[in-house]
Amino acid sequence: MNSSIQIVKAAIPAGWKRNLRALFFSPMRTLDLVTNYLYDMKRYLKYSSTLQFFDSETQLRSWIDADAHKLEKGLALAAPRPGFGKGVAERLVREIDLYRANHGMSLSLETAVSVLDSYMTFTCGCDIEYAPLFSDINRLTREIELDKQRAGCDTIVKSEWLNSAQQDLSGFFRSRRSVRDFANQQVDPQSLLKAVEMAMYTPTVCNRQAIKAHAFTRPESVAKVLQCQSGNGGFGDKVPAAIVITVDRQSFFTSGERNQCWIDGGLFSMSLIYALHSLGLGTCCLNWSVTKDQDQSLRSIIEVEESDAVIMMIAVGHLKDTFKVAKSARKPVEEFISFENIKKP
Ligand SMILES: Cc1cc2nc3c(=O)[nH]c(=O)nc-3n(C[C@H](O)[C@H](O)[C@H](O)COP(=O)(O)O)c2cc1C
Repeated sequence: MNSSIQIVKAAIPAGWKRNLRALFFSPMRTLDLVTNYLYDMKRYLKYSSTLQFFDSETQLRSWIDADAHKLEKGLALAAPRPGFGKGVAERLVREIDLYRANHGMSLSLETAVSVLDSYMTFTCGCDIEYAPLFSDINRLTREIELDKQRAGCDTIVKSEWLNSAQQDLSGFFRSRRSVRDFANQQVDPQSLLKAVEMAMYTPTVCNRQAIKAHAFTRPESVAKVLQCQSGNGGFGDKVPAAIVITVDRQSFFTSGERNQCWIDGGLFSMSLIYALHSLGLGTCCLNWSVTKDQDQSLRSIIEVEESDAVIMMIAVGHLKDTFKVAKSARKPVEEFISFENIKKP
């Protein structure tokens, strides 16, 4: 029997074998892919405000943050258009009132009302009917105690900006490498806090800041978390601290934003890695390229919201006096950049 199978196998040309294999595996892989896409889609539909606008506190707060930001960035333009943003300001007032009625106070409200106050100052001279909106903004500024420093525009002096920004960082960027061999030393949670304080200045879409870094420094917690991740084989048991980055889907509104979690979370993660590098700590990104079952296994171990998307993990630790890192050679810079890549008509 076996030998007749072998004879048939040998008779099939190599190209056909590939096609037959693809024919056999494609439906299974497609099904697997669709199942995992559906898992993501279900979560996005359930938790983002694509279908429901203001069902949760976070959804409503994210609309407030985004609308306040729209006005704030309009005010920061070189020459804001007189009368811009009236519809957004009116909606923001309604959102603030709704939030206060259902959830009380939040720092986002303070920021939003401060923005409305700056917006009112800007729009005062405009030849547009603003009386009802202004009376609403005045009511909110009376009712809500404001820290006016939180919102509006800053005027930047170029020389001061350059003083803090212009440093040759090429050595800093080049010296960061993925570390997979850490010193046997605990990581102080305070240094993780300090790094997050730096990383939180990472831009986020409409300043929605839907990110959370879940830090673990106790050996038993680090072990539990890393056990759910498959890329730390051979070094995971010696990782002193782990960070799981999540982003809350409730802060996203449209089908166009369906992948925004990974963008905002990825940008934040990179900042955090550089912040940790600046503090002298070693890091290694750990992928969260997982199927729904793996995703659920992590959710059964750590406290994350059901609406959170897990973006990735970061292994963190102190450096040994000497240690090895993979060279991870880079492609030439020309492969990373293109100029004027516009299609010919
Ligand atoms: C999102 C992401 C996930 C990664 N996941 C893993 C991982 O699971 N295990 C690992 O050892 N390295 C992981 N890496 C590290 C890459 O292998 C490494 O960044 C790359 O080879 C470049 O090397 P360098 O970081 O030393 O410059 C990951 C990197 C990124 C950006």
